[in-house]
Amino acid sequence: MKIKGIILAGGTGSRMVPLTKVTNKHLLPVYDEPMIYKVIKTLTSSGINDITIVLGGESVGDFIRLLGDGSEFNANFNYVYQQKAGGIAEALYLTKKIVEGHKLAVILGDNIFEKSFKNEVTQFENDEKYDCYLFLKQVEDPQRFGVAQLNEDESIKSIEEKPQNPKSNYAVTGLYFYNEKIFEVIERVIKEIGYSDRGELEITDVNNYYINLGKIKAIKVPGFWSDAGKFETLLKSSNFIRSQNNKKE
Ligand code: G1P
Repeated sequence: MKIKGIILAGGTGSRMVPLTKVTNKHLLPVYDEPMIYKVIKTLTSSGINDITIVLGGESVGDFIRLLGDGSEFNANFNYVYQQKAGGIAEALYLTKKIVEGHKLAVILGDNIFEKSFKNEVTQFENDEKYDCYLFLKQVEDPQRFGVAQLNEDESIKSIEEKPQNPKSNYAVTGLYFYNEKIFEVIERVIKEIGYSDRGELEITDVNNYYINLGKIKAIKVPGFWSDAGKFETLLKSSNFIRSQNNKKE
């Protein structure tokens, strides 16, 4: 079954005011392109061309003028509007009507990856054993992320969202592959767990639900990965892209 892509690009970008006062975080430049271009290209270079983009805030017209129907990227874009920020899992749930019944690759609109995931996509499309793939990266500041605790066989035991005392330095990156059970799982999380203290339906709760079903696969991300959602990490991502471009020249 062919995977469909979801890009979550809502949110207010409150960590980046005043850069985000009159525009959206995902439209800010990562060196030579708007942030969202990099994320689109992570999906298209992995062989995913049917993409639904969840937008929020006041810059929706700018996104549509910039991205259009996706033909510039050899892709097909659908758009969904998130009225108010309520977390990653809530934003994902809004795409149900468009993508229900398909396997999904969900990516956060501020996650910059060096490599693409062609092999993993093909593997997941044909995978009958695992319901979900999560992508991990060792980081120096795990407190900022969802953090995976690993078993001896390197499978994931549990995930904690922004723990004060992280049980490992493996961050759960903002790329998630889910099978068609995803919307049912989110509905269960809404019913059984609900919203977190920060007012969000947490993707970490969704992922822990999958872990309890026992069908989750952990993949270590090769090469560079960063979010670009803070001044510091936006600069780091821009510098990385610059160094890559210089290598090509
Ligand atoms: C989100 C997720 C977190 C994940 C991170 C990756 O955090 O909640 O689990 O590690 O993205 O970028 P946020 O950026 O919303 O704080």
